[in-house]
Amino acid sequence: MTSPLHAPVLKARVETLLSRMTLDQKIGQMTQPERMACTPEDVKAYHLGSVLSGGGSCPGENKPADWVDMNDAYWVASMEEDEQHLAIPLIYGVDAIHGNSNVLGATVFPHNIGLGATRDPDLLKRIAQATAREILACGVDWTFAPTLAVARNDHWGRTYESYSEDTQLVTSYAAPFVEGMQSDLGDDGVAACVKHWVGDGGTTHGIDQGETTLSLGELRDVHMRPYQPAIDAGVLTVMASFNSWNGDKCHGHKQLLTDVLKDEMGFEGFIISDWDGIDYLSEDYYDAVGKGVNAGIDMFMVSVEWIEFISHVRNHVLNGTVSMQRIDDAVRRILLTKFAAGLFEKPRPQERPWSNSDSFGADQHREIAREAVRKSMVLLKNQDELLPLKKQARILVAGKSADNRGHQCGGFTVAWQGVQDNESIVGGTSVWEGIKNQAANAVLSEDGLGLDADPTLHDVAVVVIGERPYAEGMGDVRYGDNVLVEAGSQIKGLMKILEPYGRTLELAESHPEDLATIKNISSRGVPVIAVLLSGRPLIINKELDEVASFVAAWLPGSEGQGVADVLLGDFDFQGKLSFSWPKEAKAELNVGDQNYDPLFPFGFGLNYGR
Ligand code: BGC
Repeated sequence: MTSPLHAPVLKARVETLLSRMTLDQKIGQMTQPERMACTPEDVKAYHLGSVLSGGGSCPGENKPADWVDMNDAYWVASMEEDEQHLAIPLIYGVDAIHGNSNVLGATVFPHNIGLGATRDPDLLKRIAQATAREILACGVDWTFAPTLAVARNDHWGRTYESYSEDTQLVTSYAAPFVEGMQSDLGDDGVAACVKHWVGDGGTTHGIDQGETTLSLGELRDVHMRPYQPAIDAGVLTVMASFNSWNGDKCHGHKQLLTDVLKDEMGFEGFIISDWDGIDYLSEDYYDAVGKGVNAGIDMFMVSVEWIEFISHVRNHVLNGTVSMQRIDDAVRRILLTKFAAGLFEKPRPQERPWSNSDSFGADQHREIAREAVRKSMVLLKNQDELLPLKKQARILVAGKSADNRGHQCGGFTVAWQGVQDNESIVGGTSVWEGIKNQAANAVLSEDGLGLDADPTLHDVAVVVIGERPYAEGMGDVRYGDNVLVEAGSQIKGLMKILEPYGRTLELAESHPEDLATIKNISSRGVPVIAVLLSGRPLIINKELDEVASFVAAWLPGSEGQGVADVLLGDFDFQGKLSFSWPKEAKAELNVGDQNYDPLFPFGFGLNYGR
C-alpha cells in the first residue's frame, strides 16, 4: 500500500487550511489533554487537536455507547465554525493494544509476546482488523498501537508488549498490523501509532523509561528496523519514547526525531509525545516545552497541565525560541494525518457506520482471539505424553489463575494495571471454564490450592500459575535496594515513583504459592500439567522439576477456551518461543549472544507430533 500521506491533493488541502489558521489555533492542534482534564467547551475554546483516554480512563459505565456519546460531544465542539474557531475534526486516541481492551465487553486478544510465538503475520493483520472494528464501535479514531519494542531484558515490565527479542520477527509484524488497523483509511480504518521511538526495549537492566546505551549502528540494527516497514505501509503516527539514548532523552532528541525518523526514514505523519514525556527534559517546564517542540515532537500528550503548555508554546514563538516554521511543520503533519485518515469526511461519531455496532465483542472476533491463543501456546515439557488430555479424564483444575479472566488478560485491560477477577472481564472464558466446556468430568479445586487432590478421584491436574497483572514500570523486576529510586520518576505528572513488581524473575520466590499448589497435588500422587500465565519468561526450574508437562500460555486474553482447545487435543501446539528462556537469573539473554546458554532456546516449542 502506498502511504496516503504522500497524496498531493491532500497536501493542497492542508496548505489552504493552514493559511487560515491563527497561532492559537495552530498550538491548539498540537495539544492533547486527557479526557478527565478537558471538556468539549475546552476543545472549542482552545482549538484542541486531540483528546486521549489514559489506561483505564473511561466514560460513564464504560460501554461502547458511553464512548460514542463522549466522542460525539468532543467532535461536535471541534467542528463548530465561527469567527474565533475553525472546524477541524478532533482525533481521539486510546490504548487499544490487545483489542479495544479498556472497554467492558471487548474481545481481549493475547498480548504481543504471545502473538510473537504464533509466527503468523496474517493472523496479526486479522487481529488488527477486528480490533479496528471494536475501536470504531466506540466512535474512536486512533489507537496507540502497535508497540514495536524489541525487548532485550526480561526484567522490563513491558516485555509482554513486545512481539520478540528478535528484531527480524518484530519487523515482520509491523506492516501487517498497520495495514489491518488502518485498512483503506476509509470507514473501516483506525489510525495506528508505532511506539516507542526509540530503544525502549534496550534499557540497562530493563528499567522502564531508563537509559539505552548503544552505538547509532546498534540502535538502528536492533531497535529502529521494525519502523521502516510500518512507515512504508503508511502508518499515520509515531510515539516518542520515555527512555534516553546515550544519556539524552528521546523526547528532546532532534537527531532521532527529526533527522532520522522524519528526514531519513521518510515519516510524513506526526509524532506524538508519550504521557507528559517532555516533563523529563528540564526542571523548568517552559524550557522543557521548547526542547520538545524544537526536537520535532508535533503533538503533545500533556494530560493535565495543558493550559500551561499552550501558553509556554505561545511565549516561545513570541520570544523567537521556537520558529513559526517549526509550528507550521507540526500542524501540517497533524492536518495531513487528519485528512489522510478521512476524518474531514466522516460524520459525527453518533452517525458513523460502525458506531455502536454489534461487531463489538462479536463471536467472529472472539474466534480470531481463540485461534491466536491456540497458536501462541508453547509446550516446554511433556513427560510420558501426559498431554493431550482425554476428554473423559477426571481432571482437577487448580491454581490461583485457573478461574481468573483478569489474570489471563494482564495489564492494559479495563484498568491501566489490569484487573484480578472474572467479573471485570465481560465475556470470554477462563481456562477452567474452557476445560469444563469440553471435559465433563473436570472439577475445580475447591480451595484452589489442590489440597483436595486425590488419585482415586483425579487422573490428572491442570494447575494455572504465574504473574498477576501489571503495566509499565510497575511490572519491572529490579535487583538491589534502590529499586524505587531507580525508577526514573517524573518531574511533574502523576506517578512520581514506580514501585516495581519484584526483585527476581524466579517464580518460586516471587510467587511461592504456585510451587506450593503444584506440590500439594503431586505429593498426593496426581500428575500435574502446569500452565504458566506470564508477561515474560520466568525462571521455573523448581516448578518444571515437579510437573509432568509445562505450557507457557503468556497472557492469552479473554478467550481461555483456546487454552482448553490445545490441552484437550482438538488442536496441536504450534507456538515457538519468541524469547529465549533463561535457566538462571542473568542480566540479559538473547538469541545470538556469545555463550548463549538458555534453558529453552529461541524458537523452541514441542508438539504432539501429528
Ligand atoms: C505509555 C504509552 C501509552 C500512554 C497513553 C503511557 O504511559 O507509555 O504506551 O500509549 O501512556 O495511555
